[in-house]
Amino acid sequence: MYYLNPNIKNLHRIFDQNERKDYLRLDLNENPGGLPQEVIDEVLSDVGPQLVAQYPETLHFTEELAKFLHTDIKHLCLVNGSAEGIRYIIQAFTSPQGRIVGVVPSYFMFQVYSEMYGRTFIKVPYEADLSMNVDNIINEITPETELLILLNPNNPMGNCYTEEEFRRIYEAAKANQVTLLIDEAYHYFYPETFIEYALKDEHVFVTRTFSKLFSMAGCRLGYVVGWPEGIRMVQKLCTPHNTNAFALKFAEKIITTPSILEDLISKFKEGRRYLIDTLDRNGYEHKGEAGNFLFIKVRTDADKIVRRMKEEKGILIKSYPGVGNFGTCLRVSIGEKKYMERFLDALFELDR
Ligand SMILES: Cc1ncc(COP(=O)(O)O)c(C=O)c1O
Repeated sequence: MYYLNPNIKNLHRIFDQNERKDYLRLDLNENPGGLPQEVIDEVLSDVGPQLVAQYPETLHFTEELAKFLHTDIKHLCLVNGSAEGIRYIIQAFTSPQGRIVGVVPSYFMFQVYSEMYGRTFIKVPYEADLSMNVDNIINEITPETELLILLNPNNPMGNCYTEEEFRRIYEAAKANQVTLLIDEAYHYFYPETFIEYALKDEHVFVTRTFSKLFSMAGCRLGYVVGWPEGIRMVQKLCTPHNTNAFALKFAEKIITTPSILEDLISKFKEGRRYLIDTLDRNGYEHKGEAGNFLFIKVRTDADKIVRRMKEEKGILIKSYPGVGNFGTCLRVSIGEKKYMERFLDALFELDR
């Protein structure tokens, strides 16, 4: 008998990532400038037929990553983008119909995976002033809850938890035996981290990615950090050879060359400063600067600006509906100054 899983049949997915290459892409929180061309050339000069022909060897890179993170490989699982790690954690650590708690709006794949596996996703919304009331999260941490998903910092709101707030949430999760997943995709734009919890305790995972500051979204590489037994469970779900040899080579170059990272951070900070200062000078309200993206409240119609940015200015950005008293607003990725100049020139022309 033919069978189709109803969860998959009813699942709503948006595949909007094609035909973007001719635009300035500020819609998916990539680094618009990317890695310096010299770094790309240097890494590619070392690519030969063997690297392409053979299945990738992950041990050497995982050891380098463990050194970079001051930990041991038993705490790490490489994944094909952190989205893959998130999926496996949901698959392994929640049951059919199991209760998953997460804040909204947030990275949409948490809900997509929850639906894919027939889990129940409980939404904790932001307040109207776009702040997050930590008690609202804690109130949803019940003994029936299996997984709590936090982002540090959150996408798209860019908010972060103080150590004290995180501690309260963490203790409520422990008291109710709830696995905690902390998505740190935007780490490095915001240096505070809760990785120590994933290294020291059980049932705490941190996911990270090479797609954002490390500017490797096209290569697909992320990792899960957790306690050894939890990591082994995530590893069991991975498809064989789930990461590719090019990604490992680029990532190794970045984590072993401090000047590359310093340069990426300083270009980003310059772009962010310029964007925020210029918006402030022009009286725009904004939020979310802990990540590589910013929420902007516009004076006219955000959806129309998104459309005109694309058609008239060749720039891709996103609009978000019904977000607190920001209403429908823009979310724009932050990149180096020259891209922010182009975006702001376009915004000031279209938003009037
Ligand atoms: C919060 C968050 N987590 C995870 C991801 C997935 O990143 P990747 O699969 O490229 O590692 C994204 C992508 O935009 C994100 O915004």
